[in-house]
Amino acid sequence: MGSVDIPREQWATRIGFIFAAVGSAVGLGNIWRFPFQVGQEGGAAFLLVYLLFIILIGFPAMLVEFVVGRYTERNPVGALKEVGSGAWAYIGWIFVATGFVILSYYSVVAGWTIRYTLLGLQDGYLADAAEAEGQFVELASGLDAILFHALFMAVVITIVAYGIQRGIELAVKVMVPAIIVITVGMAAYAFTLDGASEAYAYYLSPEFSVIAAEWTSILPAAAGQAFFTLSLGMGVMITYASYLGEDRNLAEDGAIVIGFDTAIAFITGLIVFPILFTAGVDPADPGAGAIFVSLAAAFGDLTLGWLIGTIFFGTVAIAALSSAISLMEVVVSYIIDERGVDRSRAAIGIGSGMFLLGIPSAYDLVLLDLFDLFADQILLVLGGLLLTVLVGWLSSDLAVRELERGIGDLGSIGTAWIWAVRVPVVLALLAALYLGVLEYIEFLQEGFLPWLDEQ
Ligand code: TRP
Repeated sequence: MGSVDIPREQWATRIGFIFAAVGSAVGLGNIWRFPFQVGQEGGAAFLLVYLLFIILIGFPAMLVEFVVGRYTERNPVGALKEVGSGAWAYIGWIFVATGFVILSYYSVVAGWTIRYTLLGLQDGYLADAAEAEGQFVELASGLDAILFHALFMAVVITIVAYGIQRGIELAVKVMVPAIIVITVGMAAYAFTLDGASEAYAYYLSPEFSVIAAEWTSILPAAAGQAFFTLSLGMGVMITYASYLGEDRNLAEDGAIVIGFDTAIAFITGLIVFPILFTAGVDPADPGAGAIFVSLAAAFGDLTLGWLIGTIFFGTVAIAALSSAISLMEVVVSYIIDERGVDRSRAAIGIGSGMFLLGIPSAYDLVLLDLFDLFADQILLVLGGLLLTVLVGWLSSDLAVRELERGIGDLGSIGTAWIWAVRVPVVLALLAALYLGVLEYIEFLQEGFLPWLDEQ
């Protein structure tokens, strides 16, 4: 299958590329996943390790994807065929498969955020935790969930169909500033709540004894979160960097993207924890239902909670949208580049397929877990690991030369980068993959098979 010559689009502006990358990075990972990871993994101790991993693992790994994308100017499948020979060329296929699976259920969860935005405007949120949970169970699966999943996917298809400049770039230039302004505003609001000082103490003063005692679970959780929140491991940053025309300083762009993503995650903690403490909820409890159950119940409790909640869930929906377009773009760019299909057709076809694949996730939460755990803890980590080994160990000269374009001679900094990729990043991903596989087997035995028996 030869690639077809269609002139490739490029970002119109530098800020367009940066906003698109920030928009991809900032999503459900920051607002939904991050606070409950902090809650489950020991509060401030986790935050500290997470910040360390962002710098030590996330930054070098992001540059790996950037250089591969800009060097090849191709979709991930084409890019990996060019950089890796033989079996390595198939890494791109893992990326495309991962994108397909992740967006299928990401869209279901994003559908819930739209539903919860409307909920605030209609009847408000239920203050009683048990009732809030019951409501979540009702809305999370079934016809409601499928409808909002369809709605969300239709919006993603529309934006991606308009292309890089008129679709994605235009959309993120509106969405990303909105996310930043609203998040900061909500943190200022949370500062005025009764539970704020207690929440800050919990969130901001790490107990080193917690790290010492819990490091076996804190380290992999922090590494996994760092990868997920920066959209690494499935070629999003390869795809976005492939639309870069001129030679910019990729290290600087990467640092900006990471700075914004980390700031938004950090500020989300400054919103969520004061609200939970004010409502008297222990932050270790909520788990994955966190924002839809505990936080929604807290909104039910607060004065003007319906309004705060509507703004909050609306922002989460926007953040999810700017991430979802990056997931779809990975697959669509492959279909356009390698198969010569035109963009609108590719977006509609791929989006419909993803919608269908997401229906099981909208039918039962167990199936959503089945997809989520598989994509998140196995496919994503596997793809990231293989790419890191390929670039770090087998194509490092090419990678350093590409990073130097737009920066100049890196000298020992280039060597330091490659060694950061070769050892800490590879080790973190290996550990995460090992633990991920164990966890998935456990889920199959204790969650999925019993569920299947009941059907
Ligand atoms: N980073 C996004 C978030 O935090 C999710 C996401 C978008 C993602 N694209 C990705 C995660 C690619 C992994 C790989 O919600």
